Amino acid sequence: MSDFAALVRRQLAADLRALPARVRGAGGTQQRLGPLRTIADVRGAARRALPRAVFDFVDGAANDELAMRRNRAAFEELALHPRFLVDVSSVDTRTSVLGSAVPSPLLGAPTGLSGLVHPGGEAALARAVQRDGSLYVLSGMASYSIEEVAEAASGLRWFQLYVWKDRGFVRDLLRRAADAGYRALVVTVDAPRSGARERDVRNGFSLPPRITLRSLLDGALHPRWSAGFVRHSRFVLANTPPRLEPGDGGQDPLALVEYFASQFDASVTWTDLSWLREQWPGPLVVKGLMRGDDALSAVEAGADAIWVSNHGGRQLDDAPSALSALPAVADAVGTRAEVYFDSGIRRGSDVIKALALGARACFVGRPLLYGLAVAGEEGAHHAFRLLRRELELTLALTGCASVADLPSASLLSPGSGGRASSPAEAS
Ligand SMILES: Cc1cc2nc3c(=O)[nH]c(=O)nc-3n(C[C@H](O)[C@H](O)[C@H](O)COP(=O)(O)O)c2cc1C
Repeated sequence: MSDFAALVRRQLAADLRALPARVRGAGGTQQRLGPLRTIADVRGAARRALPRAVFDFVDGAANDELAMRRNRAAFEELALHPRFLVDVSSVDTRTSVLGSAVPSPLLGAPTGLSGLVHPGGEAALARAVQRDGSLYVLSGMASYSIEEVAEAASGLRWFQLYVWKDRGFVRDLLRRAADAGYRALVVTVDAPRSGARERDVRNGFSLPPRITLRSLLDGALHPRWSAGFVRHSRFVLANTPPRLEPGDGGQDPLALVEYFASQFDASVTWTDLSWLREQWPGPLVVKGLMRGDDALSAVEAGADAIWVSNHGGRQLDDAPSALSALPAVADAVGTRAEVYFDSGIRRGSDVIKALALGARACFVGRPLLYGLAVAGEEGAHHAFRLLRRELELTLALTGCASVADLPSASLLSPGSGGRASSPAEAS
């Protein structure tokens, strides 16, 4: 028999042996996740799994989605300039954030209303991220309460706050978060009002979801999502000020999203940040800053960390890419506070670029939600692990044995996208 015929025979025999297990697993979680090898693959599967309005709520951004596209373009324009003949037989991704050890600089960003994506919601996301020992930040607009997530996911957690007009309610939230073991408070400052998510407007996205002929049809086309939604729907907001129901004193039947938007305090200033500093006993993180001067003001108001972000492009559509804003913030803050980054990370190599530009750690939002949509906690964990593996491989290929070797602008090739130095300047 020729070598070719022998090869075909061996492969066919192996495929036949594997067939019963594959048939048994058809439609199973691993079967669904196995072929998804990149975040782009996971996003594609999420698009197929979710009704249009829910996918667009997760995937969309403000207005023309310029800021979201800029976030990606900034990463793509920036190249890594590798070093060789460095021992990278093992790479060390461990680091720490505000004194807590984490296995890699990749962390879980706060995303509200995750229960719409999958009934497991934020509890499933927190478990997925904590499974390898990482940090999850619970959104103040979450579908699960502070206490429910603490109970479901006992690992490292921070709590993210939107500043509500009712300061008594804010004080109560902080007390609950501290009691439930959330180690740090993240105050999001880039949302004095909600950005104009035009996909949501076009889709008639509302909370609770409006049952129309179109939404019923879309639900029928996505039976797995609909089954979860009917059995354990989680479209409540669990940590927001109590709402007066129509007939319960408040007569205006506002959609929930509009109601809560009306409760955001758009008058918040640095004085309020100092007030929050006094109320919260642990470390304070300010999320959504894009300028060196703002970052310095935050440090002066008592922030322990600055989180550079343009909210994944969901707020000010004319904002620059978050990556281009990072060097100025890192320069301004120096060693006075830790600097974190999010917005647009879709590859492990993106984390390295952000670290090279001065971030200590990076957060991801949508990649985890895409995974959650495909297969709940397992899906979110799969997405997280894909990024972590890419991060490790890229570190080795770049000639970095440890994330501690970053920041190092000399790793970035000349060109656009940030404070890249030329190879001649490389130290
Ligand atoms: C569906 C969704 C909901 C979000 N909800 C919140 C939130 O409640 N609080 C907050 O500070 N940021 C929220 N964000 C922003 C994320 O924390 C993060 O800044 C952003 O997703 C990062 O960009 P990426 O999605 O490209 O990773 C949300 C983002 C998405 C996609």
